[in-house]
Amino acid sequence: MAPDGGPVRQLPGHPADIMTQAADKPAETAKSPNAPTEETVLSVKHYTDRMFAFRITRPGAFRFRSGEFVMIGLPGPTGKPLLRAYSIASPSWDEELEFFSIKVPDGPLTSKLQLIQPGDKVLLGRKSTGTLVHDALTPGKRLYLFSTGTGIAPFASIIRDPDTYERFEQVILTHTCREVGELKYGQDLVASLKDDPLVGEQAHRLVHYTTVTREPWHNQKRITTCMEDGQLYRDLGVPPLDPAVDRVMVCGSMDMINDIKALTEKAGLKEGSNASPAEFVIEKAFVG
Ligand SMILES: Cc1cc2nc3c(=O)[nH]c(=O)nc-3n(C[C@H](O)[C@H](O)[C@H](O)COP(=O)(O)OP(=O)(O)OC[C@H]3O[C@@H](n4cnc5c(N)ncnc54)[C@H](O)[C@@H]3O)c2cc1C
Ligand SMILES: NC(=O)c1ccc[n+]([C@@H]2O[C@H](COP(=O)([O-])OP(=O)(O)OC[C@H]3O[C@@H](n4cnc5c(N)ncnc54)[C@H](OP(=O)(O)O)[C@@H]3O)[C@@H](O)[C@H]2O)c1
Repeated sequence: MAPDGGPVRQLPGHPADIMTQAADKPAETAKSPNAPTEETVLSVKHYTDRMFAFRITRPGAFRFRSGEFVMIGLPGPTGKPLLRAYSIASPSWDEELEFFSIKVPDGPLTSKLQLIQPGDKVLLGRKSTGTLVHDALTPGKRLYLFSTGTGIAPFASIIRDPDTYERFEQVILTHTCREVGELKYGQDLVASLKDDPLVGEQAHRLVHYTTVTREPWHNQKRITTCMEDGQLYRDLGVPPLDPAVDRVMVCGSMDMINDIKALTEKAGLKEGSNASPAEFVIEKAFVG
């Protein structure tokens, strides 16, 4: 049973496979039971010229576990849905669905998605999936959530889920971006947590650790460097990664994931999955 009471779903494969399947398979007709549902945009907030967040209606039948992703999109030029994988940034209990998106200037989807306004329609796939879920980790004391760029999206869901604080004594969310302005979504979110009716009382157990790589910032370096030189652990006042107590989720660019995976494995943690929970899990936030 999933934390939100829904069924635990098996991973259908690598996220890239899912995107390929979605692109290759024939367009779903509106009558197909698997066709995406049409949801209404409720709000849109632009953070930088590269990133924005939006909220849409959530169908009553749509269930997911905090940290999962789903296919969303718009009707394509020929009417065939143009869908992409998106992490759901809102927690599983939320009545609405939130997403945090990149704007790729010539991106087939996001060149258009970035123009949505409240009242517009967005397509929502019927099934969510993913590895960045509590079910894929064994119990621990401290949960690290390592993210770059829009890779913070699944963790925006997880840090708003009361289950996270029931499972872990401390939650450490790291977010690394090229530019300071790209941290804003995470900063606003973490600041709002203390007023959250469900997790507000636990907000003091969440640490938000930010680094910026291409602009001046009090912590101007990659998170991997902070791990290697020990600064991360000194700043947090905790011992280095320890498989006995630490659990890790990673989301962002493939290069960053590979580097953190290597550091995590070097510390003795083993990779988990829905089928075989262990000490760390990974998911890329974009293809390429
Ligand atoms: C499991 C999974 C979860 C994802 N979750 C999110 C999410 O929550 N938010 C989100 O914005 N995207 C997410 N993506 C990426 C998303 O699926 C699309 O790639 C993105 O929306 C761009 O779509 P596009 O059609 O405009 O361009 P695409 O043709 O899909 O991408 C063009 C190029 O843009 C770059 N790019 C794409 N997405 C990103 C990104 N997020 N950050 C930086 N560069 C990128 C890559 O270089 C890519 O090759 C996720 C991808 C996967 C596989
Ligand atoms: N962000 C921008 O301002 C910008 C603007 C135009 C176009 N783009 C393009 O958009 C794409 C994605 O850019 P993005 O900024 O969202 O993602 P990104 O290039 O993955 O960078 C996000 C953050 O992750 C860091 N990072 C990258 N590789 C890492 C690794 N192996 N280990 C640890 N940290 C790592 C980056 O540090 P480093 O800075 O040290 O790499 C950066 O701070 C790229 O193709 C880029 O060329 C980005």
